[in-house]
Amino acid sequence: MPNKSTDINLKRSIVTTSDGSKTIKIEAWNEQYHSLHGALQEARYVYIEAGYKTYLNRYPDQTSISILEMGFGTGLNTLLTVLESMIKPIEINYHGIDAYPVKVKELEALQYPSLLGCEPSFFNAIHKENWGEEYKILPHFKLLKRREVFTKIKDLSFFDIIYFDAFGPRVQPELWEASIFENMFQALKPNGILVTYCAKGSVRRNMQSVGFKVERLPGPPGKREMLRASKI
Ligand SMILES: C[S@@+](CC[C@H](N)C(=O)[O-])C[C@H]1O[C@@H](n2cnc3c(N)ncnc32)[C@H](O)[C@@H]1O
Repeated sequence: MPNKSTDINLKRSIVTTSDGSKTIKIEAWNEQYHSLHGALQEARYVYIEAGYKTYLNRYPDQTSISILEMGFGTGLNTLLTVLESMIKPIEINYHGIDAYPVKVKELEALQYPSLLGCEPSFFNAIHKENWGEEYKILPHFKLLKRREVFTKIKDLSFFDIIYFDAFGPRVQPELWEASIFENMFQALKPNGILVTYCAKGSVRRNMQSVGFKVERLPGPPGKREMLRASKI
């Protein structure tokens, strides 16, 4: 079983998931960027509902929040966050980490703007700017794409929410170790939360071992559970 992050440039294809939305599959790993049960459904459920909206429900007085996405990938979670932030505007400072950016041809084939019925200009804005340069997608939404490896992320007490969206521990076990979650714990402000689609027992215990309080929540369609970890 390949488990080196650098192997992700292996043969890739675009596949359609159960809710009609598309994702990228890494053939040799039999691993996708999103759930085959529904890419859009999973992204909305795990990151927007259980992450973004839950945090703002818990702390409704926040006027500005910082979000860290581990695994920027196709930009789907970013686009959904941009759209959500337009419903109830709040200042957002969004950092997307990825060492292996997705190619433009693949992004076009995913057709996310038409899937979401939104202006292609939002999706283009997310992808067109250079990595490592912060820019405003909207007056209230700042994006910084950081081309860095997960193991080197050592921000301190800066983020309110982490979308933890690495490939699964079956193919990249090194990205689900306690040492990574220790860095995530340090990167969050007090009361910050981390959400992930993964519900594996060893991952939950690794989170707990570094101080997170972890909830097992019902998962998105097709998955029994997901995890939300809080720094409280
Ligand atoms: C499950 S995909 C992320 C899906 C993404 N959130 C989206 O909405 O499309 C995992 C991402 O992690 C990135 N990745 C894999 N290994 C990495 C590493 N060691 N450091 C940084 N990024 C890595 C991959 O390039 C891939 O984009």
